[in-house]
Amino acid sequence: MKRSHHCNALRGINIGERVRLIGWIQSIRDHGGLIFIDLRDREGITQIVLDPKNESYGKDLSMLREESVIEVGGIVEGRPEGTANGQMATGDIEIIASELKIHNVAEVLPFPLEDGKAEKVNEDLRLTYRYLDLRRPKNLRALRLRHRIAHSVRNYLDGQDFIDVELPYLFKTTPEGAREFLVPSRQNPGSFYALSQSPQQYKQMLMVAGIERYYSLARCFRDEDLRADRQQEFTQIDLEMSFIDREDIYALIEGMMTVVFKDTLGRAIETPFIRMPFREAMERFGSDKPDRRFSMELVDISPIFRRSDFKVFRDCLNGGGVIKAINGKHLADITQGELKNLEDLAKTFGAKGLAFIRAEHGEWKSPILKFLSEEERGALREQLDIEDGDMVFFAASDWLRASIILGRIRLEVARLLVKRGRLTIPRDQFDFLWVVDFPLISFDEEQGRYVSTHHPFTAPLEEDAEKLKTDPLHVRAQHYDIVLNGFEIGGGSIRIHSRELQSLVMEDLLKLDRQTIHDRFGYMLRAFQYGAPPHGGIAIGLDRLAAIICGEDSIREVIAFPKTQKGQDLMAQSPSSASEKQLRELHIRTVIPH
Ligand code: AMO
Ligand code: AMP
Repeated sequence: MKRSHHCNALRGINIGERVRLIGWIQSIRDHGGLIFIDLRDREGITQIVLDPKNESYGKDLSMLREESVIEVGGIVEGRPEGTANGQMATGDIEIIASELKIHNVAEVLPFPLEDGKAEKVNEDLRLTYRYLDLRRPKNLRALRLRHRIAHSVRNYLDGQDFIDVELPYLFKTTPEGAREFLVPSRQNPGSFYALSQSPQQYKQMLMVAGIERYYSLARCFRDEDLRADRQQEFTQIDLEMSFIDREDIYALIEGMMTVVFKDTLGRAIETPFIRMPFREAMERFGSDKPDRRFSMELVDISPIFRRSDFKVFRDCLNGGGVIKAINGKHLADITQGELKNLEDLAKTFGAKGLAFIRAEHGEWKSPILKFLSEEERGALREQLDIEDGDMVFFAASDWLRASIILGRIRLEVARLLVKRGRLTIPRDQFDFLWVVDFPLISFDEEQGRYVSTHHPFTAPLEEDAEKLKTDPLHVRAQHYDIVLNGFEIGGGSIRIHSRELQSLVMEDLLKLDRQTIHDRFGYMLRAFQYGAPPHGGIAIGLDRLAAIICGEDSIREVIAFPKTQKGQDLMAQSPSSASEKQLRELHIRTVIPH
């Protein structure tokens, strides 16, 4: 049983050839005397003509249903005058089948696979039958594009003398970073591995080992709450290099993106990418991953309110805070419900309120209007370019919080404008930038302590190193993120390679206790005593890159078997319970009955 061609191979020049095809029945049309089948495999579709009177088929043709797998042997013929299909690559021909083999008859499908219909089906149902969902051309295309990206990356890095080294997934738990998946060790009762959040520490050890240029397409595991751009299991294009500085990484990755976009979409992208300091990104866009495909920038209007009658704003300024605003152009018709959602969103980011001005029918409506002097109104109108039809939002808070709040409002306002057809954010425009000069450490509200902005192995900027002891909050890091269309698609840094500096960062800045440092990072500090080269690297999120290249909003669309919001694989029904015997062997006792 071997096919002679795939279902997108035959054309007019093949007329008269005897061929054999295998595939899935995309559609069956019974035209009285003859049965027409569109036979599909991953390459395309070919029309098959079955004659029900042909007894050699041997089976009852009424068994055939869509998505059944059949094999046909027959002769390629030109379609009769007037029946050629210009929309179809194989539309000039059809196969007159003399042989038919039915390999597998499909049940009635749980949902229709046609484009346009399948999208409307509940995602849970599609994920439960993911093997059917994946048959849709759109999904097949995504997997192929993802393959093409990976292939292109491997080729490129091979050409740049990188060595692909596989690194362990069973690692150990580390106190910094994301929440981890723990794996009990049968052979070491009471001990646990952690699934690798990223190969960060191993790849640094490869540099100490003298590998000089490492890469791998590494799976990473983080027990995070899932979002459109986050899975618990994802893939990084992970790499590390010795004897380099930031410029080398920028050039390497810009070269990689150039090749990847050419190989996948045939598109040229502009390099070098602009570099924007973290401070500027927050100031103008309220985000460390600014989407610059639309403007609507944040404006600091603090000077207008220094002597204001509006106590909320004046107090904020007196307390060292700022007043920032954005003008949602043409959004004065925002509904009460939408406005309420924006206020709630602002509050989840710590806003005390979300003052606004609605400029409509030649007048301003605003809960704060009564506090604003003529002079203040004039200054606002000028600095924010307020015209009739606009909707302006304000945030009064400390600089970082005010920026973050309005950054989120900016994205949401853009979404509302897109919904109204007043703004287009082109999916096929690729806006890359490097965000640089992040602070080395920042305050984590949740944990109530200072944490590394990137990770504890990141080196400070040389010119800021003297501030490490005196003014650590203002030390900038040799950390860079690569941003594409408002998504952080990668991040990395030049690393610390001296034992003394690494200890100082862990002890004095992150305030890790000595025992923890010894237990968790002792081997690394030791390694830095045996000839550690200066080194640095980066990891690109392959899932996010693939989603953007495929024009998708969610990385689930470019992952063969993604997990749901609750971290479940609905098809295989994982996670699942374990047997008593398994648990006993692992020295585990569960407290939640199944
Ligand atoms: P970082 O944690 O920034 O860096 O991760 C690098 C990139 O990986 C992607 N990413 C994710 N993609 C999908 N789902 C997730 N849950 C997820 N988390 C991260 C993002 C991100 O930019 N070891 C360092 C890199 C280095 O310093 O070399 C690291 O892991 O696109
Ligand atoms: P109040 O005087 O507290 O009723 O506030 C008047 C308006 O200012 C309301 O619309 C509040 O949502 C808004 N507001 C209050 N505090 C802030 C703040 N820190 N930033 C922005 N707007 C605020």
